Amino acid sequence: MNDKKLRIGLFGFGCVGQGLYDIFTQTAFSAEIVKICVKDPSKQRPIAADYFTYNADEILENPSINLIVELIDDAEAAYQIVKTAMLAGKDVVTANKKMLALHLDELIALQEETGTSLLYEAAACGSIPIVRNLAEYYDNELLHSVSGIFNGSSNYILTKVIDEKRSYDEALAQAQDLGFAETDPTLDVAGYDAAYKLCLLTAQAYGIVVSPASIFRYGIQGVGQEDIQYAREKGYKIKLIAYVGKIDEQTITLLVMPHFVEQTHYLFDVNYEYNGVIVEAAFSDKQTFVGKGAGGHPTGSAVLSDISACRYNYKYEYRKRLRPQPLHVSQEVFLEVYVRYRNPEDMEIFNFVEVKESFHGQSYGYHIGTVRLTDLIAIQDTLEKREVFIAHLGDKPQKEPTADKQQKKVFSIA
Ligand code: HSE
Repeated sequence: MNDKKLRIGLFGFGCVGQGLYDIFTQTAFSAEIVKICVKDPSKQRPIAADYFTYNADEILENPSINLIVELIDDAEAAYQIVKTAMLAGKDVVTANKKMLALHLDELIALQEETGTSLLYEAAACGSIPIVRNLAEYYDNELLHSVSGIFNGSSNYILTKVIDEKRSYDEALAQAQDLGFAETDPTLDVAGYDAAYKLCLLTAQAYGIVVSPASIFRYGIQGVGQEDIQYAREKGYKIKLIAYVGKIDEQTITLLVMPHFVEQTHYLFDVNYEYNGVIVEAAFSDKQTFVGKGAGGHPTGSAVLSDISACRYNYKYEYRKRLRPQPLHVSQEVFLEVYVRYRNPEDMEIFNFVEVKESFHGQSYGYHIGTVRLTDLIAIQDTLEKREVFIAHLGDKPQKEPTADKQQKKVFSIA
């Protein structure tokens, strides 16, 4: 095999950049980091100052650098760096899920046009090798769904709040201190980060590029003590789950929202910053991948794997995009949900198709029943402003509402 000698220009020396540097120093991996571009000249750094530059062009215009490793958190700046690098014929490894999800179509075309490689294993689910698996291993499998916990910070917060009875704010501060959370943690807790990763995995699983803005996205910010209490009483845990799956041979649906998971669920014991991905397919059946989804070393390990793949010119081929009959995306599905409210008038906006159980107390109440995903999408922008919490119950989105012969249960406390 013809191994390429790698000369790397690194952008960013934060949590993941330093993690990668540590990994380099502790392994026998042979590649040279020529320069590291950072923003802040006043910051103390653990390695020699002459490694660093504050001028991106010093790397991008250096013809001896053949690989750009992009690990900054500004998606727009990252996009400019990645685009310029690819146009200059340099391969790129990036961990920037937001940048990728917002520009995926264009970047796939740019890879084709320039003959460069754009690899991003570290951008989805940290150390779990799910991108390359979906691209290669599941190339010909009939994939029913890909779902799971794609955001380490919100899983860390939910674990602390539910299992350790910590406060939400304390748990969020810890997720930030440990370097799991994004600079703006709203991206984590409001489900944006999981939605970006879902876009990347959807492209690899089904060959479709979906805009993150088109996905129903609802995070964990609204979770209250009543919801935690409800979950505990029923033996559930609350997990923020991203889902893409087929609803028929030609159609997939996608969403990101909290889920009440039962003890028998594959993700029930996936806690703290761990991520879990469930792949359901026609022949391999159900498989689960579990690993650390955030943090410098776990994410750095995925970056290292991509760097290593660049030595032999590996690239994602997106063969599923060439299917004779591309799949469609539909939001015409039904979900079984739990909706907790404080103001009864907030329930009117949900348009329940059917209510199976309802509780009305003095300070709050809840409904369990079936809603249309299209109705949730229509009210998505107002949900975070209302005192409600929504969680998906049941297995997956359904094409038809499930017929339930049981009598409706109503509980009230006067
Ligand atoms: N903020 C992200 C997370 C980092 O918590 O999962 C890894 O992508």
